[in-house]
Amino acid sequence: MRQAEELFEQTLVNVRGQLAGAVAALESSVHDSELNYGEIFLRDNVPVMVYLLLRGRFEIVRHFLDLCLELQSRSYRTRGVFPTSFVEEDDKILADYGQRSIGRITSVDASLWWPVLCWMYVRASGDTSYGTSPKVQRAVQLLLDLVLQPSFYEPPVLFVPDCAFMIDRPMDVWGAPLEVEVLLFGCLKSCCQLMSLVEGGGHGGPLIQQRLELTRTWMRDLRVYLLNHYWVTSKTMQVLRRRPTEQYGDYQSRNEFNVQPEVIPHWLQEWLDDRGGYLIGNMRTGRPDFRFYSLGNALGSLFGLLTGPQQLALFRLVIHNRHHLMAEMPMRICHPPMDQDEWITNTGMDPKNWPWSYHNGGHWPSLLWPMAAAVLMHQRLYPNDDLLLLGQTRTMLEECYWQQLNQLPRQQWAEYFDGPTGTWVGQQARINQTWTIVGFLLLHHLMRKAPQDVKLLDLDDVGPLRLSFQDQKQQKSSPDERKSFLKNY
Ligand code: GLC
Repeated sequence: MRQAEELFEQTLVNVRGQLAGAVAALESSVHDSELNYGEIFLRDNVPVMVYLLLRGRFEIVRHFLDLCLELQSRSYRTRGVFPTSFVEEDDKILADYGQRSIGRITSVDASLWWPVLCWMYVRASGDTSYGTSPKVQRAVQLLLDLVLQPSFYEPPVLFVPDCAFMIDRPMDVWGAPLEVEVLLFGCLKSCCQLMSLVEGGGHGGPLIQQRLELTRTWMRDLRVYLLNHYWVTSKTMQVLRRRPTEQYGDYQSRNEFNVQPEVIPHWLQEWLDDRGGYLIGNMRTGRPDFRFYSLGNALGSLFGLLTGPQQLALFRLVIHNRHHLMAEMPMRICHPPMDQDEWITNTGMDPKNWPWSYHNGGHWPSLLWPMAAAVLMHQRLYPNDDLLLLGQTRTMLEECYWQQLNQLPRQQWAEYFDGPTGTWVGQQARINQTWTIVGFLLLHHLMRKAPQDVKLLDLDDVGPLRLSFQDQKQQKSSPDERKSFLKNY
């Protein structure tokens, strides 16, 4: 654990002379000089910021949030968008909104994470004056302008191009991919919490009130929509398979997306078993994506998009498919991988996304902590639920924890793992990847040290938040004090 802590400290970098966040990976080998793993990625910094909050190192988080705020786009086509990553070069901050990235892709998830992190910061630090400050409130409105606007399409989802989130290479994940939609749900929830800080406090006025109502309605509609169209169980599948097709009109339409039963994959029956359930990867006219995406499902549970019983059905599904999803390195990013022909058409023959590799069925250790947090959150909110199932889920998580503890230091905290069992270090994986390191530290914190700290991730909770570090001596984080911080650990 000490080694992980030390490596984590090395990933933190200064911007304008103050710690501002972590680079994506410590390693930069010869052929990496062209790559951007030395930049501060917003998405890779999510576990970093959560971990820093749990340790009471608020100044870094605030500096990170402030820099992101400063970089929120003001350009006429992308107004309100937060950057994918940024870096300080020659005293200037260089940000990437997609204009420099491989394939010139855009990352929608970065923008959706900002309010979530901001709300967590406000709660953990008690710094409500930051939450109510005009710059934060303005940022929230700018972001909402992007989302809550009329479009050609009525459903309350965000329509995005391929590669718009953690999966940032072509994987046929355009349209309304689960991870983006679940993050949108978390984002709207957090925006509501941030706006509520000023509502009625003299700062707000009728405009905030209107915005708040609209955002709440959008959030409710989005949840209903996702539960109707993305949530599947063996029972719902039996109904879906027997639906009529070619239905026109707006009443009694039971197959809105005109899905032909033939597109339902055969693996689904065994995958769902009798009582499992999950959110499918995407819904598009005639072409649902039945692949299982770990992060979207974990966050769907964690953010309370899924009901209590649905969360249990998800845990049951994960246990049932453990040999796929966890295997030798928890956990697989998506299942099943696309094979030869699909790989050719849908990834554009991307050699990094070869079947069982990278985004196409690879195993990412950084994905385990959100699933563990989802389980702990469920236990916190529904302490008397199915004790047998929750016991089994906890046992599985324990074993996954040990697998990571045994493997990750040995495999130098690799970015991802390849193959049907995830045994091999990813063919093009970085080593000392920050979210692998901090993901494990978070897992250790939540499972071993202070499970009650999961309440930080409860976006609905507005009550007083006493985190475990507050029971200890407050940790300091100025550069000179980092060594003593490590010593105290
Ligand atoms: C890869 C991943 C992306 C991550 C980035 C930096 O591009 O696909 O999700 O943010 O590396 O680690």
